[in-house]
Amino acid sequence: MLVSKNILGLVPYKPGKSIAATKKEHNLDKVYKLASNESPVGLSEKVKQALKQEVENLHRYPDPNCTQLKDLLAKKYDVTPEEIVVGNGSNELIDLLIRTFCVDNDRLLTSESSFIAYKICATAANIHVDEVPLNDQMQLDINSFVNKLSESSDYKLIFVANPNNPTGTYLPESKIVELLEATKDLQNTLVVLDEAYNDFVRAKDFPNSQKLQKKYPQVVILKTLSKVFGLAGLRVGYIIADKMVCNYINRIRNPFNVNHLAQVAAIAAFEDTEFLERAQAVNWQGLDYFYNEFEKMEVTYWPSQANFVLFDTGFDSQVVFDKLLKKGVITRPVKPYKLMTHLRVSVGTGEENQVAMQEIKKVLNELRSHN
Ligand SMILES: Cc1ncc(COP(=O)(O)O)c(C=O)c1O
Repeated sequence: MLVSKNILGLVPYKPGKSIAATKKEHNLDKVYKLASNESPVGLSEKVKQALKQEVENLHRYPDPNCTQLKDLLAKKYDVTPEEIVVGNGSNELIDLLIRTFCVDNDRLLTSESSFIAYKICATAANIHVDEVPLNDQMQLDINSFVNKLSESSDYKLIFVANPNNPTGTYLPESKIVELLEATKDLQNTLVVLDEAYNDFVRAKDFPNSQKLQKKYPQVVILKTLSKVFGLAGLRVGYIIADKMVCNYINRIRNPFNVNHLAQVAAIAAFEDTEFLERAQAVNWQGLDYFYNEFEKMEVTYWPSQANFVLFDTGFDSQVVFDKLLKKGVITRPVKPYKLMTHLRVSVGTGEENQVAMQEIKKVLNELRSHN
């Protein structure tokens, strides 16, 4: 079969292992999935109600312009609807950004050990990816980004996941400003601030990306409703950017990329602030519990501004992952991110968190006793 070289060399994205597959493979009744940074609190009741009502209207095509949702977002972010693009999850928007602004053999810049979709979408489009290593704090290294820019100014896109997946670390406003100052005179470079996890941030010096976007037009803000709002299964993400950036993306976007239920759910989700606060509280409680348990186990972990924690098992992560899987706890190995002894564990419900920590403790004790 004829297929281009870049597609041949592509390693497909490996999603978190599913509950159904794990139950079947290991003959388990109960499985705890803490592998995909999903919401442990499910869907807001208001979202469920809105979805039920709209089932009657599914014979119609969805609104191709997401009019109501964009109006709501425009008000929320003090921009015009022309400065917003809604996507089938933010993953689709990453792909659209690359396909809109890069042509064959262009380059984009990102970090090693950052969200892998940037690389997959770029490789599929025959775009070169330059990755700089993380710094010794496991943060994206803005100095290295800026150094790269001094070597070559022809990056079309720079992807900055803030907070970063899979490390959970973040960059303060001062660091993002350094990058924006270094790119402000480049005519053909967009800086994508991927804020999939920003609703979980507790750090006081986290950037105000909306304010930065108004000052630096090269900024593209990328957000998702898959995380704190729990809409991962419906697929809604959005971009806030200069209106010409949005205009160009809209030229190649499939007209009905965001289905009707997804639009309805997103609108209802934004209106339920109580649910948002509950989801945040559950996450923060879970994170603090994880930190405490890891400290007791003397395991190195990285404090997280997201809804997951990266920790160093001290052993081959695949071995630890497999042992946990047999006990019904699905975590995420991060070898594709060049982190060979580390696992990422998402925050779950109180019960899920407790079971995960108990099993991690048992597995590590067993492995340590053999060493
Ligand atoms: C940093 C980051 N960006 C984007 C996404 C994509 O989210 P979605 O396509 O569900 O909106 C994820 C998903 O895990 C992520 O971790």
